[in-house]
Parts: sequence; C-alpha cells; structure tokens
Amino acid sequence: MDHATPALRPLAAERSPWLRGTLRVPADKSISHRALMLGAMARGETIIEGLLEGEDVLATGRAMRALGARIEKRASRWHVMGIGVGGFLEPEHDLDFGDSGTGLRLTMGLLGSYQFTSRFIGEASLSARPMQRVLDPLRAIGVEVIEHHDNKLPIALRGPRTPVPIEYRLPVASAQVKSCVLLAGLVIPGTTVVIEPMMSRDHTERMIEAFGARIEKRTDAAGQYTVEIEGLPNLRAQQVLVPGDPSSAAFGIVAALIVPGSELVMENILINPTRIGLIDMLLEMGADIELMNVRQAGGEQVADLRVRHSELKGVIVPAERAASMIDEYPALAVAAAFAQGETLMQGLGELRVKESELLAAVTRGLRVNGVKCEEGPETLLVRGSGRVKGGGRVITHMDHRIAMSFLVMGMAADEAVTIDDQSMLAASFPDFIARFEDVGASFIRYTE
Ligand code: S3P
Repeated sequence: MDHATPALRPLAAERSPWLRGTLRVPADKSISHRALMLGAMARGETIIEGLLEGEDVLATGRAMRALGARIEKRASRWHVMGIGVGGFLEPEHDLDFGDSGTGLRLTMGLLGSYQFTSRFIGEASLSARPMQRVLDPLRAIGVEVIEHHDNKLPIALRGPRTPVPIEYRLPVASAQVKSCVLLAGLVIPGTTVVIEPMMSRDHTERMIEAFGARIEKRTDAAGQYTVEIEGLPNLRAQQVLVPGDPSSAAFGIVAALIVPGSELVMENILINPTRIGLIDMLLEMGADIELMNVRQAGGEQVADLRVRHSELKGVIVPAERAASMIDEYPALAVAAAFAQGETLMQGLGELRVKESELLAAVTRGLRVNGVKCEEGPETLLVRGSGRVKGGGRVITHMDHRIAMSFLVMGMAADEAVTIDDQSMLAASFPDFIARFEDVGASFIRYTE
C-alpha cells in the first residue's frame, strides 16, 4: 500500500434544525477485529454476520490472509477458513495495519510466540504511536524484537524457541495490551495470567471462550481483574454476530442531545458494561437516553437507544470511568461544551500515552470554536455555557474520533465547524456523512 500523503479533503458541518429518525450505526470495531483473528485461529469455517467493513478491520483481514487463513465475503457474510492454533504461516510480506492500533497491537500478540519473523508497518500516524506497552510483555514471553524505532513502527518480531507463559500485571487498564498477552498465551503451553487494575473491554475473553477455550476470570473487591488462559486450546469455528458499535453510536447520542428538537433512535447497539461509560456519564449530566428492548445477541448484551435533546449540566468524570469510555472523551468534551457549567475529566494520563496528540487536539479544537477549556497533565476542564460559537477549523491529526466529534459540534454550533480532512472517517464509520444526512444533518464539502 502506498503511504504517500494524499490531498486533504476538508468537510464542515453546519447547524441543523433538528436530527430525527433512525440513525444506522456501523458494527462494532473491537468485535470485528477479534472475529477475524479468532476465526483465523480456529479450525473450520467461521461465519461473521455484520462485520464492520471499515479500513481498520479490512487491514486485519488482509493480515490474517497473509498468515494463511482463507477469508471471503459471500452475500453479506464473511467466511473465515481458519488453520488452527499454532498453524499460522510465516508472512511473505510486511503486515500493513494502515492506521489501526488495535489490529496491530493484537496481531503482534497473535504472532509473538511463533518462531518466525513478522514485520509490521503502518501509516505515518500509526508509526508515530508508542508500542512499548505491548513490546514489554512480549519481551517477557521471550519474543525477540529484531527491529523497532524507539519502540515504534516498523517493528519486526521473532518468537522464541520455547515461549514461556507469563503472569503480566498491566500498569493501567488496556484491552489492547490485555488482548495482546492473551492471544500470545493461546499459543504457549501452560497458563498465561493477565491482571488489570480495572476491567477494560472484555471481548477477547468472551470470544476466546465462545470458540471453546478454557478461561478463568475474577474481579476482587478493589476492582482488580484477573484472567487466566490455558494455552494450546482446540478452537472451533463459530457463527459471530457483530452488534452496533457504542463508540460510533456516541456521535449520534451527543448529536441528538445538543441539537434542539432532536430525537434519534439507534438500533442493536452493544451495551457491554465495559463500553458504556459515556452513556452513564451523560445520564448524570441530565441526558434523556432510553435503553429499549435490552436483549442477548451473540454472547453480548444489546439494546435500542432512544436519545432526545436535553439540557445538560457539567459533571466530574472520575478516573475510574476511563476504562469504560477511553475512546469517548472527544465526544464527551463536545457534549460538555454545550452543557451549563464545568465538566472536569480526570485520569486522562493513559489517553496521553496511547494517542499522543489526542488530548491537545481536543483542547485546540474546542478553543478555535470559542469554548473555554483548560488542559492539565491528566485532566481536561471544559467550561460549558449552553451554546457554542463554532466557526473554527479543527486539525484532526487523522484521528477519526476527533473528526466526528467536531462535525457533531458543528451540527449545533452558531457557525459551521470545519475539519481539515474527512478521509479517516473510513476507519470506523465509513458512511458517517450519508447516515447523518439521512436524519437531517447538513455538511459542506470542500476541495483543496
Ligand atoms: C480497543 C481498546 C482500546 C480502544 C481501542 C480499541 C480494543 O484501547 O481505545 O479503540 O479493541 O481492544 P486500549 O485498551 O489500549 O485503551
């Protein structure tokens, strides 16, 4: 793939009279990545219904093919012919993850224990992100990091002759790091143990179990979460049903809350408790969000959401919330800008480490649109006044969440809000523009 910088395609969102109807939300990105990976590792044909066909997930699909899995789309379903635990082949070319941190970090775990060389590359923005958080546990397993650039891409790994099962204590909760170690543990004889200070999203554990491996999980009184996995299980192909992504629904939720006169319904949204910290926080802020028709589907809890415009008030967002809303801070910051009073988000240190530019980019985006805010080393304080002037141009740093959050801001601000580029919407919400237009949003497209 060519990583030359293409021309920017700016986009603006202008104030909507209202947003109404059913907003179709794309399938969950985390579950989609994992369905392809576990499908590739299992014996037999896994059938995935509703896979997110965004750039990030497609990159994972290409990587699984390069490792020997057969993957094809027939009608609306994806079929993955897996090769069994320990069966991956040495890739003949570099594995290119584009801009997908999740695909990259989890696949480094998948391959870490194989005694061959795999080389990982990605786009400029991914290449700037720190990978030490996954290289540390892999090194403990005995993986040789034969190439890295200050712990960043390109990275080449070679597994040890005899990988050892580890007990790994995560310094901060992270599903990517936890999953990296668990997926490596699948190919290591013995028991691999991961301990998180607080439980992050648990889709890897749930799916490994659904594919037939033995996993033990426990949470102690202080919230510390331990997972133990037996290596070399016999994984059997499954049917996977991917629900709607709560991290994508976040943009519809915030948009409906801040645009007066709005009422949006989003159907079949994953409501796994490790993913809905944003909804809990917004409810505390006075949001009118209804969870309807709560049900089990494909081993996860899902619901239809109904969200109506609401007068929001500022709140304190404690650090303990971080694990369950790690991707939703930009959207929450936009909601906070339209709330009355101050919203203080605490415990954002982790965000700074994993996405180095994100917090600063949110602060700058708020400021150029006339929102008062203060950024601390681990905090963001947004001073809401019930309305936002807008009119600013936001530098997204190619981050899809920043892009979508500020487009949502534009739907309710006095003046249109512009983002510098729209190409990264393809990562997680490929039809963002069309789906929001369907419910009443209005965008201005530019060419530069
Ligand atoms: C993800 C985990 C989160 C999240 C990312 C997806 C996953 O990262 O930010 O978008 O699918 O495991 P961390 O767990 O590293 O915070």
